[in-house]
Amino acid sequence: MSLLEGKIVIITGAASDRGMGRATALKMGSEGATVVVTDKLKNKDIGPVQEVVDQIIRDGGRAFGIGLDVTNDDDIKNLVDQVIAQYGRIDILFNNAGVPAGVGDFLNLDESDWRLAFDVHVFGMVKLIKAVLPHMIAQGAGVIVNNASTAGLAGLAQFSGYGASKFAVVGLTKHLAAEYGSHSIRINCVCPGMIDTAMSDIEVSGFMKDHNVDRDTAIKELSMLVPLGKYGDPAEVADAVVFLSSDQSKYITGIALPVAGGMSAGL
Ligand SMILES: NC(=O)c1ccc[n+]([C@@H]2O[C@H](COP(=O)([O-])OP(=O)(O)OC[C@H]3O[C@@H](n4cnc5c(N)ncnc54)[C@H](O)[C@@H]3O)[C@@H](O)[C@H]2O)c1
Repeated sequence: MSLLEGKIVIITGAASDRGMGRATALKMGSEGATVVVTDKLKNKDIGPVQEVVDQIIRDGGRAFGIGLDVTNDDDIKNLVDQVIAQYGRIDILFNNAGVPAGVGDFLNLDESDWRLAFDVHVFGMVKLIKAVLPHMIAQGAGVIVNNASTAGLAGLAQFSGYGASKFAVVGLTKHLAAEYGSHSIRINCVCPGMIDTAMSDIEVSGFMKDHNVDRDTAIKELSMLVPLGKYGDPAEVADAVVFLSSDQSKYITGIALPVAGGMSAGL
């Protein structure tokens, strides 16, 4: 029996080439879920979203795609209306969308950096959860997994705006878990460490520039920060999200699960 057989799942930020959203969409599709693949569209182009949908269907799964900017109220309403009209329920929400905002020297971050980090990570999540929760309450069950970060668990130089927004994601997760457990709704978050995606490329490029080294050297040096000695694969985060979404974790709610190769071991 597949872990998510028959479940209706929404995933945000799921179309990025090597991203965790995409990896989770593919994994959930292979575990029997119907995956609603969403992402912010560039120039109204649904192409990258449709690519993920096509891949899931090629692999024998079920999926459909829709544009969703998590900061846009109309997009959120349209998404939830469409999913409810088509399937009548929403079993799982993976809030994954994220931006490398609020990163850099604190004194050089301006208000717009801070606002972007909080708009996407915190208010985007708040709005989507607010739209989805009434349906989960009516169903008497539901699962929400939020993508936070190890930067939401501990202080890190150069990450003040991004990290503060991820601390808020961890806090939101725990408070909502406490509030909605009585409705059989479980709410957890994953806290990835250094995962090999387009977003972490920015950190690698910064290291190359600061230390005047090539990409391989930068990755080797940065990997030394990880006890398991390597960058994480997006699929390894997807495994954790599937676990937290499935009945395998049915007595787990309100946790912030590091998926970080041991980077959080000292916390
Ligand atoms: N890469 C890492 O090392 C790392 C570590 C910890 C946490 N994270 C978090 O993991 C999540 C996934 O990031 P990733 O590394 O896979 O990066 P990614 O850039 O591959 O994916 C981020 C996705 O979010 C989407 N997005 C951005 N703004 C959006 C908006 N307004 N509305 C909807 N979608 C939007 C992007 O289009 C993209 O598809 C993010 O929340 C990120 O903060 C990443």
